[in-house]
Amino acid sequence: MKMWSGRFRQPLDPDFERWQRSFPFDKQLLKQELAASAAYANALAGIAVLSSVELEQITAALRAIGDEAGSNPALLQDDEAEDIHHFVEKQLVSRIGEVGYKLHSGRSRNEQIATDLRLYIRAQIDAALTSLADLMEIFVQRATDAGDRTMPSYTHLQRAEPVLVAHWLLAYFEMLARDADRLADCRKRLNVCPLGSGAIAGSTLSLDRKSIAKKLSFDSPTANSMDATSDRDFAIEFLQALSVLGVHLSRWSEELIIFCTQEFGFVKLPESYSTGSSAMPQKQNPDALELIRAKSARLIANANSVTINMKGLPLAYNKDLQETQQPIFDSAITALSMLQHATGFMREVQFDFAVMEAAAQSHFMNAFAAATYLASKGVPFRRAHEIIGAAVRLCMDKGCELQGLPLTELQGLHPAFAQDFYSAVQLNAVLDCHDVIGGTARARVKQALAAASQRISQFKGEAHAHA
Ligand code: ARG
Repeated sequence: MKMWSGRFRQPLDPDFERWQRSFPFDKQLLKQELAASAAYANALAGIAVLSSVELEQITAALRAIGDEAGSNPALLQDDEAEDIHHFVEKQLVSRIGEVGYKLHSGRSRNEQIATDLRLYIRAQIDAALTSLADLMEIFVQRATDAGDRTMPSYTHLQRAEPVLVAHWLLAYFEMLARDADRLADCRKRLNVCPLGSGAIAGSTLSLDRKSIAKKLSFDSPTANSMDATSDRDFAIEFLQALSVLGVHLSRWSEELIIFCTQEFGFVKLPESYSTGSSAMPQKQNPDALELIRAKSARLIANANSVTINMKGLPLAYNKDLQETQQPIFDSAITALSMLQHATGFMREVQFDFAVMEAAAQSHFMNAFAAATYLASKGVPFRRAHEIIGAAVRLCMDKGCELQGLPLTELQGLHPAFAQDFYSAVQLNAVLDCHDVIGGTARARVKQALAAASQRISQFKGEAHAHA
C-alpha cells in the first residue's frame, strides 16, 4: 500500500510511478532510517501513543530489518517501495502487522529524509576526516624523510626560488588541514535534529524532541519546522567543502603529472599506481593522478547541482529535494576513494632528489637572494634588482650562473659586491635567508613539520572522539 493513496481515484502512470521513486538510491540510508525510526518510536512511547509492548515489537522489528539487510542484500530488492521510508514501513508491517503502521503517527517523510541525510553526512564527514588525517600524515612523513633536500619552486611555471622539498609537501598539508577544518565546521552546524518538525508546521503530537535529538547524538532539536523540513544547507556545505578538497587533490595531481614527465624527472611514478599503453610498449602513465584530477570535477559539479537545485525553492518541502540525494552520495563515495588512492600513491611515490637538487641550483634561482645581498650592503632594493638583472644578462651571454662571475666583473656593475657575495648565494644560504614564519629557511621548516605533526594528533583525537 502507498503511504498516501487515500484521496486518489486513479493509479499513477506506471512509467511515472517508477520514475519518481527514490528507493533505488535512498536504500543507502537504511541504517539512518532505522536509527531515526527507533528514536521516534521511543518518543511515541514516551507520550503513550505506543504501549511498551508495541514499542518492543517495533524496535525488535527495526533491529531485525537491519540485521537481515546485513546478511541478505536481496532484502533490499523491492520494486514497490517508493523510498526508504516506505520500504521500512512495508517491512515492519510484513513482520508485525498493523502495529507497524503506528510508527508513522504524527510523522512525515519530510522530516525523516532531512534527518536521515544529516545522519548520513555526519558519518561521511567522520570517515572523510579519518582518511584526511591519513593523507596528511603521509605528507608529513614524506616531508620528514626529505630532510634538507631541495627543489625549484615555480611561479608562472617558470623557475622561481629554491625551496626545501619538505616545504613544498607541507604546502599540500596546509590545504588538507583547511579541508579538515571545513568539514569539522560543517559537522558542528549540521548536528541538529529535524524529527518532530512534522510535514512543515511541527508535529501534531507533543513529542519530547530533546530526547529524540539526544538519542541520535544530535546537539539539539532544530529551531524552526519550516526551515528544518526544507533546509539542505548542511548538504551544500558538505559538498562545497568536498569540492574544495577536490580542487586541492586535483592541483596536487596536476603538479605530480608534470613532475613525473621525462622533461622534469623529479618524480618516479610507482608502478602500483600506473598503467601502460596497449599500443606503445614503453609507456607508464600516471592514471591514478589523472583520475583523481578528473574526479574532482564530479565533486565540483555535485556541489553546483545541489546549490542550483535549492535556489528556486519556496518554503518548505518540495520534491525537488529528492534530487539532492544522489549528488550527496556520489560526492561522499568519490571523495573517500580519491583520498584513499592519493594516500596510497603518496606512500609509494619516489622523488629523484638528485634531479630536483640539480634543478634547484640552476637558472639563477638565487637572484632574489643576490639582490637582497646588495640591499643588505645599503643599495636600495629597486636598484639592487636592476643590478642583479644586469648580472643575470651577463651570465646568460657567458653561459654561467651568478656565482660564476668573477668579483671584478661584479664590482664593475656595483662597488658594493664583496667576497661574501659567493657564500650569500649558495644554496643553503639562499634557503636560510627566507627566515620568517612560513618561509623555507631550514629551521623554519623544521618548526613547521613539528607543528604539522601536532595538528595531526589533534585531528586524530577529534576523529576518535566521534567514532
Ligand atoms: N523520497 C522523498 C525525498 O527524498 C522523501 C520525502 C517525500 N515527501 C513528500 N512529501 N513527498 O525527498
